[in-house]
Formats: sequence, structure tokens, C-alpha cells
Amino acid sequence: MNKLTKEEKTEIIKIVLDSAQIIFETETGSQADLDIEVKGFGDYVTRVDQEIQNYIEKELLKIFPEHQFLGEEGERHSFDQTKPCWILDPIDGTTNLVWDIQHSAISLAYWNGLDLDFGVIYDPFLDELFVASRGEGAKLIQAAKRNYPKQTKLDLKMRELQELSQAIVAFGSAPYGRGTDIDHKVVFEVLSDVFFATEDVRRFGSAALDLSYIAADRFQIFYEPTLSPWDFAAGILIVEEAGGVVTDFKGQAIDIFQPSSIVSANPVLHKKFLPLLERLT
Ligand code: IPD
Ligand code: CA
Ligand code: CA
Repeated sequence: MNKLTKEEKTEIIKIVLDSAQIIFETETGSQADLDIEVKGFGDYVTRVDQEIQNYIEKELLKIFPEHQFLGEEGERHSFDQTKPCWILDPIDGTTNLVWDIQHSAISLAYWNGLDLDFGVIYDPFLDELFVASRGEGAKLIQAAKRNYPKQTKLDLKMRELQELSQAIVAFGSAPYGRGTDIDHKVVFEVLSDVFFATEDVRRFGSAALDLSYIAADRFQIFYEPTLSPWDFAAGILIVEEAGGVVTDFKGQAIDIFQPSSIVSANPVLHKKFLPLLERLT
């Protein structure tokens, strides 16, 4: 099967770290410098999204010319899911970037033709790198630019907090789902139920970092009514390798090539939380 070698993984992580330079060469928060295009209501794409995607795609295909590439920006091609594929969100948290809220990430996952095999999520603002390989665990490397690949790393292992009433819940509002089959009135009624069942709620604006933070136990539950493959592919592997569960709102495994609802937590909290989402299934 198309497994990556340790050397290839190191090289890919370096490509991701290097690509982040594009963010710092841009005046984030400056609408002129970001060259913003509006894709839909509240849905932006900037020069940074496009340049990071071009850079990573070009560098990856130099190493793996025969691999498929699925990036959020640009053209969509049809895929042969039995063959290797890279899935990239060049900037997850574009609205944050546009308004200079320094909470966004680059998210890259590798599908080996059968399974998610490797995932990288990099927050350039905190210089935090979340990495997972199937069967080898999830890791957090802090001060990544200086430390990688020296690997001063933290193995991520989620705590088994059992009580919903003690859990902090991050949710995503599925902002681009307005006017589709998502009923946002119900989404916010459910959020109210969630608030009363748990300790508190948060909304950060980057699903990739939401999943990374679940793995790092910075909060305990994350859910969003709909996300796309590039939003969750790397994060699903990172959470699973940290001992967590990720499913759709019905509790079913997520098809990582399709848009899906998503809920993630440790196994005990996941089971207790799922019934709260019933009205959204
Ligand atoms: C978005 C972010 C946000 C989530 C949206 C995503 P983008 O990704 O992850 O947190 O609520 O559903 O689409 O557009 O910034 O790449
Ligand atoms: Ca995204
Ligand atoms: Ca994006």
C-alpha cells in the first residue's frame, strides 16, 4: 500500500511550514494586500489562500507526480478513491485572516487509497504543529519553526472526562450553509440546549484547529452541521490518533470525500452528547 516514509513525512511538514511564510509577507487585515474575492455570503478567498495552495500543490506533485490533489481553491476534479490523494485547506479560518484575528491554520491530509494515513495542521500564529500518522499516534510540536524536525513533541492523549456538565463545547455555525437545507434557527436552538447541558460554549472560526484542540484536550466537544473534506480530513486523523471519536450527527463514520456534519469528543462524552444533536439529523 502507498505508505509514506519517515523522510517523506519530514519533507512534507517542511513544505507546510515554509508555505506559511506567505502569510507573514502579507499584511493580514489589510483588505487591499489580501486581494479578497467573495465566493458567497461571508465566504472569502484571498491571495494568501491561493498562493499557499499553489505552493503546496506544486511542491507535493514534484515529490509524488502520480498522486491526486484536492484543494479547496481552484478546480475540482473527479477522483479515484482507490488511489493516493492529498487533501488541502490552504487557510482554514479565512474570515479570521481577513479581519486579522490570528487564529487560522493550514490543513493537509494524505489518503493512501484506502485510509487516511497522515495529517498535518499548522497554526502559523502560535507556531503550533499538530501531526498524526495512522497507528503511530498524534503529536503537538510547539515552536515548530525552531524545533522541527528536532521533534520536541508532546504526545496527544485525550483525558476521559465523563461529565457533560464539565465539558467545554466548541461549535461551528456552518456559515456558508445559510439558505440551504440547514435550518439555522434550529441550529441555534440546539446551541441553547448544548449551553444548558454543558459548562460553556465557544466559536473560534477554524474547524481544523477546533479538531486539533479536541485532540489536545483544550476543550472537550466540537460539532458543526456541515463541513467539507478539506476542513476535516487531517483533523479526523489527529483526533482519532489521540484517542477520540469523530462521526456525523447520526453517529456514523464520515465519508471524508463528501460534505458532512461532524461531532467529536472522547468516546464517553461523544455518546452522551449525540442525542442533543438529534433535531439536526
Ligand atoms: C471555515 C472554518 C469555519 C467553519 C466553516 C469553514 P474556511 O473554513 O473552518 O470555522 O465554521 O464551516 O468552512 O472557509 O475558513 O476555510
Ligand atoms: Ca476550511
Ligand atoms: Ca479555506
